[in-house]
Amino acid sequence: MTTDLFSPIQLGRYHLPNRIIMAPLTRNRAGAGNVPQALNVLYYEQRASAGLIISEATQISPHGVGYPATPGIHSAEQIAGWKQVTQAVHAKGGRIFLQLWHTGRISHPSLLPNGEQPVSASAIAAEGMASTYEGEQPFVAPRALETTEIPTIIEMYRQGAANALEAGFDGVEVHNANGYLLDQFLRDGVNQRTDAYGGSIANRARLPLAVLEAVIEVWGADRVGIRLSPSSTFNSMSDSDPEQHFGYFVEQLNRYNLAYLHLLEPSESDLRHGGKPVPTSYFRPLYHGNLMVNWDYDFAQGQAVIANGEADLVSYGKLFISNPDLPERFRRNAPLTPFDPATFYGGGAVGYTDYPSLPDSSVPDSSLQDSSLQEQQISS
Ligand code: PHB
Repeated sequence: MTTDLFSPIQLGRYHLPNRIIMAPLTRNRAGAGNVPQALNVLYYEQRASAGLIISEATQISPHGVGYPATPGIHSAEQIAGWKQVTQAVHAKGGRIFLQLWHTGRISHPSLLPNGEQPVSASAIAAEGMASTYEGEQPFVAPRALETTEIPTIIEMYRQGAANALEAGFDGVEVHNANGYLLDQFLRDGVNQRTDAYGGSIANRARLPLAVLEAVIEVWGADRVGIRLSPSSTFNSMSDSDPEQHFGYFVEQLNRYNLAYLHLLEPSESDLRHGGKPVPTSYFRPLYHGNLMVNWDYDFAQGQAVIANGEADLVSYGKLFISNPDLPERFRRNAPLTPFDPATFYGGGAVGYTDYPSLPDSSVPDSSLQDSSLQEQQISS
C-alpha cells in the first residue's frame, strides 16, 4: 500500500490518524489581555480532525508581543483560556501543540510594557511597518540583547513551555522561523554579534539550541517540534549561505529525536526578494526524523510529496481556514470552500468560525453522491 495523507503516523509520543496538519496561523482574535476566548475555542474545536493542530504563534512573554490581539501563554488568564481550547479539541478526539513565540525586532514600543524598545540579536531595524493598535507604524531599531540577558530569554521559553503543559496542550512547536527572535539569532543577515551567540553558525545556533533544550526539559523531545524557514525573506531576513548554515542546524537537530521538523519551503516571493532558495530535497537526507512541509500545497501536491517520500507530513494553512473539516473534504474529494484573505487577520466570527463543514462527516461517501445538499452547503 502506498503511503499518503491518510496514512496514520507515529509522531513522537502520538499516533496521528492522518498526515494533514493544521499549520500555525496568526488570526489576531484573542480577547482582552491577549487571552483566548470562547470564539477561539470554537475555531480550534471545529478543526479537531486535523492529524495535529499547531496553534497560532503565541507569545511567551509580554516582552515578546509583535502584533495586536495575538494570544499569550504567560498569564494565569491566558493559561485558563487555552485550557478551554485544549479541552474542546480533546473532546473531539484531536491533538494540539502550542507554538512558542517571541517576535524580537518585529514589534513596536506601543505593543511592549512601558513602551520599551524591541530586542534582537543586533541593533538592525527590519524594513517596513509594524502592525500596532494605532495602525501601521515604521519598525524601530531594536536593542541588541546583552550577553547577560540571554539566560532570561531561555527562561522565558522554559516558562512558556511549562505554561503550555499546564494549559493541557499535547506538545509545543518552537517558532524558529519567519524572522522572529530565534531566526534573528540564527541568520547572519541580522545577527552581527561578536559574543558567543554570533559569528560562526555554531555560535548563531547557540541560543536556538539552548531554547530547544530548555523546552525539551519540560516536555520530552518526543512532544517537541521546531519550525524553520531557511529560504524566507519575510520580515527582511537574509542569510549569506542558507544551504550550509541551515544544513548545519538541521544536522544538530538530529541529536534530540524531536517529534518533527517543520520546514517552510521557498516561495515565489522569496525569489523575488533575492532569497537563496534551498529545496526540501536538500534537507531530507540531512534530517533523520519526521519532516513536515508547508507551502500552499493542494490535495494532489500533498499526496505526491508523501507518496514519493519527500516528506512525512504536510501542514495546510489557508485551506484549513476555510475548510474546518479539511481531511474529510480531501478524503471525499469534495469541493473546497475558497478562503477570504480580507478576514485572515482580526475581526470576529466572520471568516473565522462561520466556514461550514460538510453536512454530515459521518455519512459514508456513497450516500452523498448526487447530493445537491453538499454543493449548497459548500457554496453558502
Ligand atoms: C504574521 O502575523 O504576519 C505572522 C505571524 C507568524 C508567522 C508569520 C507571520 O510565523
